[in-house]
Amino acid sequence: NGGNKVDKIDRFSINNIRKEYLNFFKSKGHLTEQSFSLIPKNDKSLLLIGAGMAPLKKYFTGAEIPPAKRMATCQKCVRTGDVENVGLTARHLTFFEMLGNFSFGDYFKNEAIVWAWELLTDVLKIDKDRLWVTVYLEDDEAENIWHTKVGIPMEKIVRLGKDDNFWELEVGPSGPCSEIYFDRGADKGCGKEGCTVGCDCDRFIEVWNLVFTQFDRQEDMTYLPLKSKNIDTGMGLERLACVMQGVDNIFEVDTIRSVLNHVCDISGTKYGSDYKKDVSIRVITDHCRSASMMVS
Ligand code: GLY
Repeated sequence: NGGNKVDKIDRFSINNIRKEYLNFFKSKGHLTEQSFSLIPKNDKSLLLIGAGMAPLKKYFTGAEIPPAKRMATCQKCVRTGDVENVGLTARHLTFFEMLGNFSFGDYFKNEAIVWAWELLTDVLKIDKDRLWVTVYLEDDEAENIWHTKVGIPMEKIVRLGKDDNFWELEVGPSGPCSEIYFDRGADKGCGKEGCTVGCDCDRFIEVWNLVFTQFDRQEDMTYLPLKSKNIDTGMGLERLACVMQGVDNIFEVDTIRSVLNHVCDISGTKYGSDYKKDVSIRVITDHCRSASMMVS
């Protein structure tokens, strides 16, 4: 039904979801802040900000006192590591906005997990049956919270190793994590036997990463324990919008689609008629967004 689709896109527009997220965490006692610049300050380990936690490292390590023990932001991010996937998958962008809630020695796993579920299912009304979660291989505590407090059946909690469920940058705050995936349906997947959470295809799409920040990774790759246990979460706003708007591809999300339409207008091309051209249109759309944000 075309009418319903338009209502859905309106209610779940990028701008509305951003507002709902920040308001939700404000109601849970968080200080909400504007995005920091894409250019890191006093951090020689990063060229660009690629995660919501990056401008807040100093608060996680205890080098500076945060303005509040609970904060939430929507941070502009650029991840050049994903550049080869852009245009080919339904979910990768180089520039994206990351929704994040942070605890500096305040709440930990329990609240982070329960609130993430409350926001997705009660506030944003995502169908519970489409959600799966992962936990770090050894993290019995997170698995127990997901199962006993939230009520996720054990068969929908997947344990993964360090490659998937341990979050870190080159240096700085890091720790085991738990991710929330949305199942977009078999028709969006690779169809291979054994395709499940963790598969590289576009069926199970990771929307939210909850990091239980406990370590400070050093340049020599050793991990020192942090003074306090913290929470760092990251959810891609455009990916969440893709799921909520029920569109096939992240490039069809409201604000990104406007850029894509403009790319088609000025190049005299039509989107959706030729696979190779579509890839190019998506790449140009992505790079226009990133370049504009980096220049600004
Ligand atoms: N810092 C959490 C994430 O970027 O996924």
